Amino acid sequence: MKLELRGITKRFGALTANDHIDLTIEPGEIHCLLGENGAGKSTLMNVLYGLYQADEGEIVVDDVEQRFSGPGDAMAAGIGMVHQHFMLIPVFTVAENVMLGHEQTRFGGRLDLAAARAKVREISDRFGFHVDPDAIVEDLPVGVQQRVEIIKALSRDAQVLVFDEPTAVLTPQETDELMATMRQLREAGTSIVFITHKLREVREVADRITVIRLGKVVGEAEPTATNAELASLMVGRSVELTVRKDPPKLGDEDLVVSGLTVTDEAGTVVVDDVSFSVRGGEVLAVAGVQGNGQTELTEAMVGLQERVDGSVRLGGSELVGRSVRDILDHGVGFVPEDRSVDGLVKEFSIAENLMLDRSHGAPFVRNGNLQLRERDAFAHEKIDEFDIRTQGPSQPAGRLSGGNQQKVVLARELSRDLSLLVAAQPTRGVDVGSIEFIHTRIIATRDAGIPVLVISTELDEAAALADRIMVMYRGKVVGIVPGDTPREQLGLMMAGMSPDAAGAASGEEASA
Ligand SMILES: Nc1ncnc2c1ncn2[C@@H]1O[C@H](COP(=O)(O)OP(=O)(O)OP(=O)(O)O)[C@@H](O)[C@H]1O
Ligand SMILES: [Mg+2]
Repeated sequence: MKLELRGITKRFGALTANDHIDLTIEPGEIHCLLGENGAGKSTLMNVLYGLYQADEGEIVVDDVEQRFSGPGDAMAAGIGMVHQHFMLIPVFTVAENVMLGHEQTRFGGRLDLAAARAKVREISDRFGFHVDPDAIVEDLPVGVQQRVEIIKALSRDAQVLVFDEPTAVLTPQETDELMATMRQLREAGTSIVFITHKLREVREVADRITVIRLGKVVGEAEPTATNAELASLMVGRSVELTVRKDPPKLGDEDLVVSGLTVTDEAGTVVVDDVSFSVRGGEVLAVAGVQGNGQTELTEAMVGLQERVDGSVRLGGSELVGRSVRDILDHGVGFVPEDRSVDGLVKEFSIAENLMLDRSHGAPFVRNGNLQLRERDAFAHEKIDEFDIRTQGPSQPAGRLSGGNQQKVVLARELSRDLSLLVAAQPTRGVDVGSIEFIHTRIIATRDAGIPVLVISTELDEAAALADRIMVMYRGKVVGIVPGDTPREQLGLMMAGMSPDAAGAASGEEASA
């Protein structure tokens, strides 16, 4: 199937999010869309999927002009979308979820459960997905849930599949598997539109690359282009892809965590007797495959976990047992892993979100009165400084593009008077230009003498920022090693091997 978007224009009030965009998707190609946060990629895909109606332009499928008044129409025309926040019903089985999709399509026939199970099995076998039709969706890892979304789309004969930042939530291994799936789909004749901010992924799978900037197509790039070339085409200037930092000027052991243990609701120990310390002026990065206790560790430190034993001492005061409010007031900056759940109130304006945790004190509140002028001045300053692409401080945060929402959280947390920064996946969903800026700010925080704890599933990011790296596996600390430890050794530690054994094994590999 050949898909053409011709002159697509989509406006939100005064903002032109898509400005006469032409894009052709050839049969059986993987077409990457690259662009800065807020460039208009998701908007364009939402127009294609019938979620938004274009103000101008047309969608043409195999030379026939189409009108999509909703996703049902797009699906009927052979267009499927794998959303970043999955649309699956968690308590239903895989087969039930696949069946539901069919009831929603306008032209698709109804499926019964037996047929749905057979369909799941057939598609799963065809692509080697290993998805059990009777599994309950909420019990499945994120990567497998994503495959269920793919199966759902394929069961409706999707010939063009749109993936909007699918790898942001995946582990490196799940990402590799998804890339393999995309190639398989391409071999089977399905076209893929793939949006990602990770240039490595683009260069690995793309047949063609289209770059969008400020709502317009600015050009095509070759998959053979270097990271630096792709980055400068996206951002319109050259981008520093490595973090510059001076050796740390170490201060006192400001943060001392000892014997920290967290138990989840089911009684499983998810953080197991974890001890470490971070000095002022130092970045400790926590690396490890996602799901090995890193999330619960950070949550326990800021008071978001209930069953916590052990101690977290910051500048001599104990944080365990205190409320979140109290801990934040203590100068702890916290960038949560999932901004849409913990970081932002989507209905609130950007200005309100930027002062969210300071709404009870100076300078924004004096004698019980909200100081609107100070609040708005602060918001304007942060919007400039962090390059938040918005129509203004009163825009609801939920209307921002994904990466710009992340920048609001970072702007708020990095602008406080900090005694500790805990940042989980700080650059998730953020474009390369903004990654450069955020990394610079994190290093500036460290250089101001503040202890910094960074959690990242991106080994590149952990290695770039860290003075020391702590690897976690199954809730335990495997080891704490210098920031320049070779990747192979870190990789083995992430699988549970001790630092010494991993060092020896990776050394052998290197000399073999
Ligand atoms: N429903 C909406 N109402 C108002 N403005 C919107 C709406 N949806 C998107 N926008 C604006 O349109 C522009 C393009 O947003 P879009 O989500 O398409 O960007 P993107 O390229 O997907 O960025 P990211 O890489 O951060 O996901 C942004 O400035 C955004 O604030
Ligand atoms: Mg987007």
